[in-house]
Amino acid sequence: MSPYRKLSPVGRTSAGARDRDFGTASGDAARSAGVWRGDRASTAPAADGAALARALRALERPIYIVGDAAAPEVATAGEAHFGGPEADAAVAIAATRASIRAPARTAVRASAGDELPLVAHSPPLPLENLGDPEFRAAYGLRYAYVAGAMANGIGSVDLVEAMSRAGMLGFFGAAGLAVDEVAAAALRLAASLGDAPYGFNLIHSPAEPALEAAVVDLYLRRGVRVAEASAYLDLTPPVVRYRVQGVRRSAAGAAVPARRLIAKVSRVEVARRFLAPPPEAILRALQASGSITEEEALLAREIPMADDITAEADSGGHTDNRPAVALLPTMLALRDRVQREFRYPSPPRVGLAGGISTPHSAAAAFAMGAAYVVTGTVNQSCIEAGTSDRVRALLAAAEQADVAMAPAADMFEMGVKVQVLKRGTLFAMRAAKLYELYRAYASLDALPAAERANLENNFFRAPLARIWDETAHFFRARDPAQIERAERDPRHKMALVFRWYLGLSSQWANRGEESRQVDYQVWCGPAMGAFNEWTRGTFLAEPRERRAATVALGILHGAAVLGRAAFLRAQGFQPSASALETPPLGHDVATAILARGGAAGSRHRAAAPSDTNDTNIRVGGIST
Ligand SMILES: Cc1cc2nc3c(=O)[nH]c(=O)nc-3n(C[C@H](O)[C@H](O)[C@H](O)COP(=O)(O)O)c2cc1C
Repeated sequence: MSPYRKLSPVGRTSAGARDRDFGTASGDAARSAGVWRGDRASTAPAADGAALARALRALERPIYIVGDAAAPEVATAGEAHFGGPEADAAVAIAATRASIRAPARTAVRASAGDELPLVAHSPPLPLENLGDPEFRAAYGLRYAYVAGAMANGIGSVDLVEAMSRAGMLGFFGAAGLAVDEVAAAALRLAASLGDAPYGFNLIHSPAEPALEAAVVDLYLRRGVRVAEASAYLDLTPPVVRYRVQGVRRSAAGAAVPARRLIAKVSRVEVARRFLAPPPEAILRALQASGSITEEEALLAREIPMADDITAEADSGGHTDNRPAVALLPTMLALRDRVQREFRYPSPPRVGLAGGISTPHSAAAAFAMGAAYVVTGTVNQSCIEAGTSDRVRALLAAAEQADVAMAPAADMFEMGVKVQVLKRGTLFAMRAAKLYELYRAYASLDALPAAERANLENNFFRAPLARIWDETAHFFRARDPAQIERAERDPRHKMALVFRWYLGLSSQWANRGEESRQVDYQVWCGPAMGAFNEWTRGTFLAEPRERRAATVALGILHGAAVLGRAAFLRAQGFQPSASALETPPLGHDVATAILARGGAAGSRHRAAAPSDTNDTNIRVGGIST
């Protein structure tokens, strides 16, 4: 005899009296039934929408949808029993429901020893459980959340520190900076973060190979242990050197690299190069030049170039505009194929970047199998980013379609484009005009007078001859070969002059130069509009409130809520729209979450002070 008192659905909550904002169960819910037992008065289920919303947000607790499938209720305690005769009994109870029409029923609450049919359930889903546990362990992270590098120090020291202190990974935006500026950031981060996780961008610089090599020298000297490699079309000696120097054989016999590398890629052929071991030819050349030892070259054949690859879909900045839902499965399949070929002891993982700035997009990434998520655009709008308040204000006003592709400064002649903000600046239009002129005319002297006047009056605000003098001065110090080439090739000279505008336009934006707002180049993806839509009417609509850790935790928290809701839905229970709202977390809530301490096994412990009572946390006005 079961010690539990079976509650018949008959006589339970009246459908008419129910909170219509709760949710609905389909016939499938009855077929997947088990039994829920509430053994304490405190486990009594509730049938109002607010209770369901609270249950979805109480991520450390299970959710049980119980009772009559036509009028289900929610509990976050008690016991669930799945399958077996109890489930059959529950199905039998639920099956009778269709033929019963009970007029004016009175609500009956479950009490100690009650037993109710289980309609659906969701296990706990702490934020620390999102993504791949091996990814988190490898980098010592609490959360599978990465802030990708943003050039010119927009991905600033402050941003990297904020991420690290929140148990996440941030990459310093080294691209576009001189080596001594990157060195200064390396010193600051080593001093402020010590052994806590953080990394630096290693960007491929086809036009400045010496710079790429110098940056790798710096990383090796300064002990930068994590790098995000990006913009590579093929592997270069510097990136291979970064990966291979210091690789050793562990006591267990495995080849263990001294540094970690995450390669950000949007093309399959490039991903394959990073998933394979370093190329033989480059290993031999590095060994011949004394950059790596014979032993390192041998061990390198057992490791993939990258520990992880980030599949970069449609994003801010350089992008191939690939859709995330198509790109990630392709990269996952590629990883599996390459793993079958090379049989690494730990297979490379695949994360997703591009378009992630809301709970829904992060939930989708994790649901598709992303080991981690990478954000960029949304972090530029945060207070820690190395940009100006004017740019933050422009970003906060952006909507979904307020982005455009425009010629890139670094690969202008190759026709490469970057995704930028369109609203509030003429940059996209003006940069496109420059590229059009570059294609149509052989030299600056060949430009029609009207075009030249337009450029001098509106774009450059100076005679082109003076712009060339400034350009030549810049390259004399940085890369004199460019000037020699320009003297031989007038079209190259025109490209360098036009790149003056493309290069300065992002500096004007970063510095917040008022007189140049119409020319701001602000790298930005559609993620910005999505974020602004999500935060509309909340405190995060205000740029000065956008703190990177609060934003990140809100995205992750909402993703976990939506993940749990999806699990309930798969069992036939559809939570109401209001229960599914995922408003951003407040700063106090974010601080309290961080103060709780990490998941077991996490190397990193975020230490944010808080006096908030973590058993009663407000989430968008809802207590959890
Ligand atoms: C302002 C800005 C600058 C960026 N600069 C770089 C960079 O220098 N190197 C890099 O690897 N990625 C860069 N990115 C890409 C980000 O690291 C990240 O991968 C991307 O922004 C993610 O997509 P999302 O913009 O849709 O969030 C940049 C992105 C933005 C928005």
